Amino acid sequence: MKLKIELTKHPKEKPSDETKLGFGHIFTDHMFVMDWEESLGWHDAKIVPFAPIEMSPAATCLHYGQEVFEGMKAYRTEDGEIRLFRPEENFKRMNISHDRICIPQFDEAFLLEALKKLVEIDADWVPHTYGTSLYIRPFTIGTEESLGAHSSTKYKFMIIMSPSGAYYAGGLAPVKIYVETKYVRATPGGMGFAKTGGNYAASLKAQDVAAEEGYSQVLWLDGVHRKYVEEVGAMNVFFVIGDEVVTPSLDGSILSGITRKSAIEIMRSWGLKVTERELDIQELVDAYKSGNLREAFGTGTAAVISPIGELKYGDLVMQINKNEIGEISQKLYDELTGIQWGKRDDTFGWIVKVK
Ligand code: PLP
Ligand code: COI
Repeated sequence: MKLKIELTKHPKEKPSDETKLGFGHIFTDHMFVMDWEESLGWHDAKIVPFAPIEMSPAATCLHYGQEVFEGMKAYRTEDGEIRLFRPEENFKRMNISHDRICIPQFDEAFLLEALKKLVEIDADWVPHTYGTSLYIRPFTIGTEESLGAHSSTKYKFMIIMSPSGAYYAGGLAPVKIYVETKYVRATPGGMGFAKTGGNYAASLKAQDVAAEEGYSQVLWLDGVHRKYVEEVGAMNVFFVIGDEVVTPSLDGSILSGITRKSAIEIMRSWGLKVTERELDIQELVDAYKSGNLREAFGTGTAAVISPIGELKYGDLVMQINKNEIGEISQKLYDELTGIQWGKRDDTFGWIVKVK
């Protein structure tokens, strides 16, 4: 497929203060768009100026939630190189999400090349400060004009990009997490493993309730037994229990995080015992009470490595590692961001250079 390029005639002002970027509020000059319909497959791939899109009010995505998205980042090294972190993993996962909600597969190699071109065109938007990056949001929506509840016969695939700072306002400071016991996010056979908007809509209510009590996000328990730890709103979770690092195994209702996978590989390369298994919330409570729960942290593209300083389960408030950044969390943050921002060697071969 050919990629058409139309550059903007009205470049926007870039943010002058990189300490105030926040997350996902500012958008670059260009975006990628491509369309799908039965007779043409994916077609009309183009990079165009960032602008609102026109769509029928009857577009299927607006009514039945046929939407998939991804989250990835471009980083600027000290010597000005612009690079991506394991982008092929995001496109692979995006096709898995597509399949779950009946959106046609796309050519991952073509999309990676198109993304590299888009980032190259908007390279000046990649912020310079350590800890900041260009957040990249590929997404697909059903666009057929129809109120029939069936899979759409038309789709739009887009990529938009946003220079961003830390996802949590406090940066690497430990976050407070609320263990959710009333609402569930996903169940076996559902779509918890897919990155589709509906999973996030399902989580908003619990998140609002937790926020009212001063918690950043909720920790989901499994939807059947309501006792096995799953993941947090925008990240996977790890617990250091004694000398074992435990993370819930991928059971179909958890997102298979790329940061999770990378963290496991890094920690194993250090010789740590990392186990993917079922983790009963009661085991965490027991470990906490016996002084064995040494650290907890979340992993995610937006959240990077986020130490968890407090976990509230019912009436029990567990202060983890005195609400301080743990040794493993800090070491992992330094290693992962070091690889991403080019301060450490990319020994795993995860970096894809843009320019
Ligand atoms: N779990 C959920 C629900 C998420 O939204 C995210 C963020 O993308 C993650 C986990 C972490 O995934 P990744 O490390 O691929 O960003
Ligand atoms: C990401 O980490 O990229 C995500 O997609 C999480 C999102 C909810 C901000």
